[in-house]
Amino acid sequence: MKTVRVNLPVNGYNIFIDRDFLSRIGEILSKEVKVKPCRALIITDRNAGGIFGDVVTDSLLRHNFDVRVVSIDPGEGQKTLKTASTFYDACFEHKLDRGSLIVALGGGVIGDISGFVAATFMRGIPFVQVPTTLLAQVDSSVGGKVAVNHPKGKNMIGNFYQPKAVFIDIDTLSTLPKEELIAGLAEVIKYGVIRDRELFEYLENFLPDILHLATSALERIVEASCQIKADIVEKDETEKNLRAVLNYGHTIGHAIESLTHYKEFRHGEAVAIGMLYASQIAIELGMCDNDVFERQLLLIRQLGLSLHSGLRPEDIIRTLYLDKKALDGRLRFILPVSIGEVVISDKVTEEILHRVLHKPL
Ligand code: NAD
Ligand code: GLY
Repeated sequence: MKTVRVNLPVNGYNIFIDRDFLSRIGEILSKEVKVKPCRALIITDRNAGGIFGDVVTDSLLRHNFDVRVVSIDPGEGQKTLKTASTFYDACFEHKLDRGSLIVALGGGVIGDISGFVAATFMRGIPFVQVPTTLLAQVDSSVGGKVAVNHPKGKNMIGNFYQPKAVFIDIDTLSTLPKEELIAGLAEVIKYGVIRDRELFEYLENFLPDILHLATSALERIVEASCQIKADIVEKDETEKNLRAVLNYGHTIGHAIESLTHYKEFRHGEAVAIGMLYASQIAIELGMCDNDVFERQLLLIRQLGLSLHSGLRPEDIIRTLYLDKKALDGRLRFILPVSIGEVVISDKVTEEILHRVLHKPL
């Protein structure tokens, strides 16, 4: 078992990474995380819960947790206050209190909404993340951003609320649809560009192994990604500054998702296009050379991801100014300087955006 520590002044925690791990969650919770047997509510969706619900339930029961499961239909459309409210009902029905535990079993949708419910029920009860998509394993389960969506915007109702532990079972990726794996890989490319040239080179050299779910390759990229995210979150838990680098590719990516109503592109698919445009902007500003763009383009092409949003540049630019990451009407972009290094820039003008967005990738 590999362990990555998220060292925070209060509420630091471990990310445990292993194979064939779900059946040992009860044991690790008791022995390593020191959670005493208590009432536990597993929140999941019908896909993840249908495949992994029983093994996690049995593991917790064996360690004397009093377990209930609540399961919803999958999909981003569920990440609402209305669904959260049904989870509060389940918390009351199962008599959860501040000594109880919420277990988020699933992808980022389940992780975000379960964390939100844990953060708000009785002003906060403990929760753990059991991420079962690559995106959730390398990104959303780590760092404590919890949220639900609002008709006015995605993730607009939320907070920072850290889990007590994250349990990553690499084997859960074997049932994941290929498109979901690929969308998660876009976030791994992101980590390579922002912080880790070796990780990027590993992706360049071992992409076929990763796509064939070779365990050692998956472990390598999940651990490296979690380590990078942990390092950044430790330095800037509530995104005052540095944590914004995790949004590389997300500025334009979010605009693409928003304009297509979160229906046409998975998050990682939109981020991939966003990373390529951010690189083109950096080239326009003379901050990096073409090779930085070309290497990302090659990886993204190998993943078979679309390079075309089909959207009008004017619409993307208008939407960018509505993003919650725009500060005082000024756009903030994360731009690559080289593979492994990015900077936060507010120097991107509308004129540059027009130029870049009008050129096909
Ligand atoms: P998701 O949770 O919708 O999962 C994708 C699909 O895979 C779903 O249909 C799910 O049921 C299914 N699934 C999950 N695990 C499976 C498995 N092992 N086998 C088979 N099917 C499985 O999507 P996602 O990509 O995991 O997460 C996207 C969400 O994450 C978005 O809401 C996004 O806003 C959020 N997010 C949050 C953060 C954060 O820091 N909190 C970061 C990035 C993304
Ligand atoms: N996914 C970006 C962050 O956690 O800050």
